[in-house]
Amino acid sequence: MKILMVTTESAPFVKTGGLGEVVYSLSAGLKKKTADVTIVLPLYSEIKTLVKKQSVPLFEYQVPLSWRMQYAGVYRLEQDEMTFYFIDNEYYFGRGGIYGYFDDGERFAFYSLAIKELILRLNMPFDIIHVHDYPCGMLLPLIREDRDADYLFSNTKLVMTIHNPSFQGRYPPQVLSDLYNLSEALSHKFYINGTISTLIAGIEYADLITTVSPNHREELLSVAGSFGLSSILNRKQDCFVGILNGIDYQRFSPLHDEYLPFNYHLKNMDLKKQELKKRLLERFNLAPLDRPVFAMVSRLSQQKGLDFAFASIDALLDNGFYVIMMGSGQKEYEEYAEYLRNKHYDHCGIYLGYHDELAHLIYAGSDFFLMPSLFEPCGIGQMIAAHYGTLPIVRETGGLKDSIIKYDGTNADRATGYSFFEPSAAAFFNTCSYALTTYYGDYETHLKLMKNAFKYDFSSVTTATLYYRQYLKLLK
Ligand code: GLC
Repeated sequence: MKILMVTTESAPFVKTGGLGEVVYSLSAGLKKKTADVTIVLPLYSEIKTLVKKQSVPLFEYQVPLSWRMQYAGVYRLEQDEMTFYFIDNEYYFGRGGIYGYFDDGERFAFYSLAIKELILRLNMPFDIIHVHDYPCGMLLPLIREDRDADYLFSNTKLVMTIHNPSFQGRYPPQVLSDLYNLSEALSHKFYINGTISTLIAGIEYADLITTVSPNHREELLSVAGSFGLSSILNRKQDCFVGILNGIDYQRFSPLHDEYLPFNYHLKNMDLKKQELKKRLLERFNLAPLDRPVFAMVSRLSQQKGLDFAFASIDALLDNGFYVIMMGSGQKEYEEYAEYLRNKHYDHCGIYLGYHDELAHLIYAGSDFFLMPSLFEPCGIGQMIAAHYGTLPIVRETGGLKDSIIKYDGTNADRATGYSFFEPSAAAFFNTCSYALTTYYGDYETHLKLMKNAFKYDFSSVTTATLYYRQYLKLLK
């Protein structure tokens, strides 16, 4: 089976969050199913030197965006038994960062058009073209509306995955003719409140739509939780599935994590984690007292529930517990994190940005992992933390609800963490207090939950198996 993954992020090259992690781990899992996986990425300036050193230049061509002709260079690289293609264009991708430019609509239009041209030039009849999130949603109509390309695409199935429904790629309908060389008459097919949406275009033309957890699928089918997508998704619900993401155990496992100073397993987890906790606190110049550590590794955006969560975090700190936070994002949240660190400088550590090795130490060396998201299609931090024996405390939304079994006082044999529903500082703080009661009052149960969490199956190989089955069904 030949699969093309179309994305704007993929580990190990570029990622801003879960998307890049998941595209890679899913692809690696599919490769294990003997699928032949190709991933296409923009050649961003951050990776240009590295990629050019390791890859071979393959094609150069001009991409027409209506009246403009834009250069595309394609580099090919074989890595981890997968093929990566990188699309180079200095003007669109040579600027640093990935998203957030005024002309993102044009940048990703170029990228989508360049990918279609690449497939034509490769003359490769992919069985599956799998597009992730809004940036390349228009690739689906570009393929299906081009009758002349049927010779190559008629047996190809198109899959669209919604990782984050709040980003919809909404632009004035004129972009269809001005950027995509398509007729504006198509706009009614993916029109929403005066704009077209590249995400909805992808959904409309997809043979299979997926999202990243079964619970989030239900949320997207409801009016309240769908960001305006419920009507189209209800219409297409027979070809809409929710599959829980997984994590790549090759890279995220305390058994062989290369970033950790030493590894641990089920039997010595308690002891080793205590030692890792000391190292973690040292890294943040905090005195290692015998107190629990609450950790957070997250993009600092509104989605992550910080508007109510910071008040609970402040309260945890007021009570003398350690809090370690890593992430970057909206300025006001970064500033608030700094304010908390200044206020509680001897037991609060923050790292504004992302640092792989330190992130692994946080996952391994903490006691609790906080994820109070307002909405979370899947979430990845809670799964990594759990697999490292760090108990997640999550809000019951999206994939957080699907991936963490809440401890309710009676299910110590299977629970893997704690959760709450109401998005309020009080509900969050009460749940943290409940977790602390178990930690201090019944450490044996706490340890039992740590072991359950470690043993739970979060493997991306399981996820890949489910996707593979869906692909097979499509190709039947
Ligand atoms: C998006 C979602 C997150 C999910 C990730 C990977 O970032 O917000 O919940 O885990 O995509 O699918």
